[in-house]
Amino acid sequence: MLFQAISLFLAIPLAQAAAVARSSHEHHDHDHTHEVPQRLPGVWYQEPDHPVHSLFRRGPGDGYNYPVPGAQNWAAGFPPTSVPNPAMLPREWVAAYNASVASGDIPNIPRSQSLQPNTNPVYPQGVNPMSPEICSATYKCRIPGDIWDAPNGVFASSFDDGPLPLTPQLVGFLQDKGVKTTHFMIGVNIIYYPSQFLAALNAGHDIAVHTWTHPYMTTLSDLDVLGQLGWTMQLIHNATGGRVPKYWRPPYGDTDQRVNAIASAVFGLETVVWNNDTEDWGSNSTDLVQGAMAGFLSRPKTPGLIILEHETSTITVNGFINSFPLIAQNGWQFQSLADVMSGGHIYQNSDNDNAPVTAAPVYNQTMLSLATSTASSTIPASSIADLVSSSVPSPTAKPNSASSIREQRSSSLVLFLSLLAVSTVVVFS
Ligand SMILES: *[C@@H]1O[C@H](CO)[C@@H](O)[C@H](O)[C@H]1NC(C)=O
Ligand SMILES: *[C@@H]1O[C@H](CO)[C@@H](O)[C@H](O)[C@H]1NC(C)=O
Ligand SMILES: *[C@@H]1O[C@H](CO)[C@@H](O)[C@H](O)[C@H]1NC(C)=O
Ligand SMILES: *[C@@H]1O[C@H](CO)[C@@H](O)[C@H](O)[C@H]1NC(C)=O
Ligand SMILES: *[C@@H]1O[C@H](CO)[C@@H](O)[C@H](O)[C@H]1NC(C)=O
Ligand SMILES: [Zn+2]
Repeated sequence: MLFQAISLFLAIPLAQAAAVARSSHEHHDHDHTHEVPQRLPGVWYQEPDHPVHSLFRRGPGDGYNYPVPGAQNWAAGFPPTSVPNPAMLPREWVAAYNASVASGDIPNIPRSQSLQPNTNPVYPQGVNPMSPEICSATYKCRIPGDIWDAPNGVFASSFDDGPLPLTPQLVGFLQDKGVKTTHFMIGVNIIYYPSQFLAALNAGHDIAVHTWTHPYMTTLSDLDVLGQLGWTMQLIHNATGGRVPKYWRPPYGDTDQRVNAIASAVFGLETVVWNNDTEDWGSNSTDLVQGAMAGFLSRPKTPGLIILEHETSTITVNGFINSFPLIAQNGWQFQSLADVMSGGHIYQNSDNDNAPVTAAPVYNQTMLSLATSTASSTIPASSIADLVSSSVPSPTAKPNSASSIREQRSSSLVLFLSLLAVSTVVVFS
């Protein structure tokens, strides 16, 4: 594909600037306050060389008409409501995954195995799930950068497993209270319940990824992980007019270094777990859920609360609704998880639920010459242009040492490669 060729070229000049943008992203302070991802020029929150740009590059105004969820055949192009076939993945995803493997971004660690249904999967004998190389969240190992805690004093709200028949009721309740939540959605449930999906979306709630069919992710092959995440992202993308989700939550909280690496390197996803669990999913009465909620709501405000909750049944939903007044009464600040953790930038390519989504920029000759002739920072969607211009030696700079000459040479090389990359676009686009 054209875009892979381009990103190969772009990866070189962008590497140095991308490192700057990335550092704030990777150094989330997971123990204390969460650092908000830095918005890049052109709205995207991933560096321009990240594959997620080319995987989901379209947006409104690009001539594509997204069918409304629920319209006839709206989901025809998606996998059936079963485990996605790894042999039917879009080639671009596999190519991006292959590139991540080649650059050493995906650790080659053993898969876990589910020995019995609904029990924690186990790794082969001798493999320690708490070791930094594996770091399985099922065993409560926290991978640096993953989200387990909310900011102090905040009740970071989310619900898993929707959309489902009760979604509109939950959304209506929250709308009455003037608040929103984050829905970690299952791909096949979006296909089954498109109008319930729209109820959440149209109320301005935040939509995030909870995989296609809800498996234990650490038991899957890399390509199965790719399909579970990629198809759910693609469906949310197409069902929201082009928004690219930023967050995913592993079903059962089951992720590890390998699964996380695929989510992050290929799709730009951040992993969200939780720090308290009402076990509403297994409760047989709202009283049990309310009891658990009351306990968590009376605990110290440090760290903030991320409670695992579900929109699956009247027990889970009413358990929450009945507990809702206690949240404010106990001094917690209710916020939608994706909103508070991202500083309001819930998607990778949009400022918020209402802001327009932005297609990844296509670079052209005009942008490059603008970038090289001036150091202007007023070029729209100009992440590449800014980066290229920053690597051009200033005409007044006097090379006065061997090292600055070396730098200048590499800058020229960078510029040459950028020109090459851009002319590739011009020739083939
Ligand atoms: C999703 O939308 C893209 C445009 O962004 C389109 O090319 C693609 O065919 C759609 N996918 C499906 C499965 O409908
Ligand atoms: C990805 O890598 C595999 C194994 O090396 C190869 O068989 C496959 O053709 C590659 N696919 C793409 C799309 O690059
Ligand atoms: C609830 O979360 C707090 C903060 O992470 C933790 O200290 C506590 O052990 C959790 N309680 C339960 C029952 O998991
Ligand atoms: C509900 O679950 C509790 C413990 O989990 C159990 O003691 C109780 O018998 C159950 N009640 C019903 C009606 O199933
Ligand atoms: C090139 O990019 C610039 C800046 O985004 C845009 O204004 C211009 O219309 C583009 N030119 C072509 C030929 O697409
Ligand atoms: Zn779930």
